[in-house]
Amino acid sequence: MNTKKIILLASGSGSNVENIARYFQDRPEVSISAVLSNKKDARVLDRCDTLSVNGLFFNKTSFYNTDCILDILKALNPDLIVLAGFLWKIPEKIILAFPNRIINIHPALLPKYGGKGMYGNKVHQAVKANGDAETGITIHYVNENYDEGAIIHQAKIEISADDDAAQIAEKIHVLEHEHFPKVIEKLLTGRAVD
Ligand code: GAR
Repeated sequence: MNTKKIILLASGSGSNVENIARYFQDRPEVSISAVLSNKKDARVLDRCDTLSVNGLFFNKTSFYNTDCILDILKALNPDLIVLAGFLWKIPEKIILAFPNRIINIHPALLPKYGGKGMYGNKVHQAVKANGDAETGITIHYVNENYDEGAIIHQAKIEISADDDAAQIAEKIHVLEHEHFPKVIEKLLTGRAVD
């Protein structure tokens, strides 16, 4: 079997990482080579232990000022690099080394609520403050600008008037967990997944 390899990058809780890892546990056509985190105490690294997935911490210097992370990525040679709640900008040298092989999930319907500083709960608070009736998720390719790469997939949910930002976040996580692994599978195997 031609197993496809993915590397996940995450900065925080890692519920998407865990969900993706569990989804592919019984789908051997996709395997997770490693999960890289820029936060030493991020919950995602504890989840990696529980899931028996390689979890690695890296710091800012290794990411931006040396080729250390670039070289690790090249050595692992992933078919896809997946940003799952990763909050640092990807350096151009990494984008150039993996053309159309880096994707991100954003917790809003881009181009709305994207750009620097727009992540996680800040997005949901802005959606709530604007009184929007719907929001959603966007899975897109990563280019040199935050949240501006070509859109691969979007999905929407309705917001009720009494949903607060935390409830919107919960609904968004449900949507992300449903769609993200299937989009990854489709990109890697070419198979349509319901
Ligand atoms: C997710 O909602 C993801 O869309 C968002 O961070 C959350 C991570 O949750 N990403 C961004 O805001 C990127 N701009 P998780 O750690 O539970 O997977």
